[in-house]
Amino acid sequence: MDHAEQIVQLERLLDMIENRKTSMAESVYRNPVDDYTDPEQFEAEWKRLFRRLPLVVALSCELVEPGAYLTEDRVGLPALVIRGDDGKLRAFANVCRHRGTKLLRGCGVTKRRISCPYHAWSYTRDGALAHVPRDGAFSADINLGELGLTPLPVVERHGLVWLVPSVGAACDVDAFLGSAAADLASFAIEGYHHYETRSLRQAMNWKLVVDTFLETYHLGSLHRTTVFPILHGDVGAFDPMGPHLRNVYARRGLENLRDRPRSEWDFIEQTAIVYVLFPNTVFVMQGDHIETWRVFPDPNDVNASEIVLSLYTPEPTKTESAKRHWDRNMDLLVRTVLEEDFPVGEEIQRGFYSGAQDHVVYGRNEPALAHFHAAVRQALV
Ligand code: FES
Ligand SMILES: [Fe+2]
Repeated sequence: MDHAEQIVQLERLLDMIENRKTSMAESVYRNPVDDYTDPEQFEAEWKRLFRRLPLVVALSCELVEPGAYLTEDRVGLPALVIRGDDGKLRAFANVCRHRGTKLLRGCGVTKRRISCPYHAWSYTRDGALAHVPRDGAFSADINLGELGLTPLPVVERHGLVWLVPSVGAACDVDAFLGSAAADLASFAIEGYHHYETRSLRQAMNWKLVVDTFLETYHLGSLHRTTVFPILHGDVGAFDPMGPHLRNVYARRGLENLRDRPRSEWDFIEQTAIVYVLFPNTVFVMQGDHIETWRVFPDPNDVNASEIVLSLYTPEPTKTESAKRHWDRNMDLLVRTVLEEDFPVGEEIQRGFYSGAQDHVVYGRNEPALAHFHAAVRQALV
């Protein structure tokens, strides 16, 4: 997003604040309660969204040096993403080609050879089979050279890493991102540093978790003392971006920009920019850091999700005072969702089964909700 476009967005927010407006949908959106509870739809979402679309698995800064790897088990198969000695990022099924043992756990940096814990077959960092103890017991009948790790499609773009968790699938991230790509490219995300990742489990459908981030209508009530003093309530400059979306929220103080020359207007400093990178990543560009909230359904339970929150900082954290600062940030994020948003979300999820109503309604002032749920519906057709 260039400076001219940033000024356009800031003007838009100023107009909203000054005239008590926000982005409005054409009409109210009535969403069937089943959208959050129906096991058949849930199964279709799992197969067609989570197993077929590119999912954000990391920022590039988490996988910098040769041998840096992470494993991801929330995507329906055990996946391994690893930086090769040639600097290229690759992904594989995290499955030994001998008898199927899981090769690596968690994240870190591997030795030059990835050794299977079961019978010590070993692989290079680019997935080739490197060594088989007593290889003569196999080589008469099979070509060991063909038993490299099974590749998965992975693409690194704009400082983010996308994986399609299905063997043999395609991964055209550029086409998939469409107009969201230019925004992401402008943030120089590759220069950020990973600070911390935490995982939360909630009794909420995955879409209800995403909904949490899509409007500021609730700030003045649910977050009166936490987020509301920081962001304007019921103000958001919404733009659809194919199945993805952007919703720009205004920090308090943005209303004073009129007193300063436009050349000094700093978009990032004055806003919180929320993207949904479809289907399950909420990417938040904050004034001084990046947050990603990646939401994974529990494939066995329509009412349960795992939320993976990561915080990234523009500079590496070197001093104790910087560490205290980011710890406080992380604690505030976690406390706000755990004490305010998610308890309400869990009650909403239970209330869906009450028979109280067939539909929930998203107001015209909640256009991102309507867009997100319409995009899910569209992707399932
Ligand atoms: S299963 Fe990996 S070496 Fe046997
Ligand atoms: Fe909230």
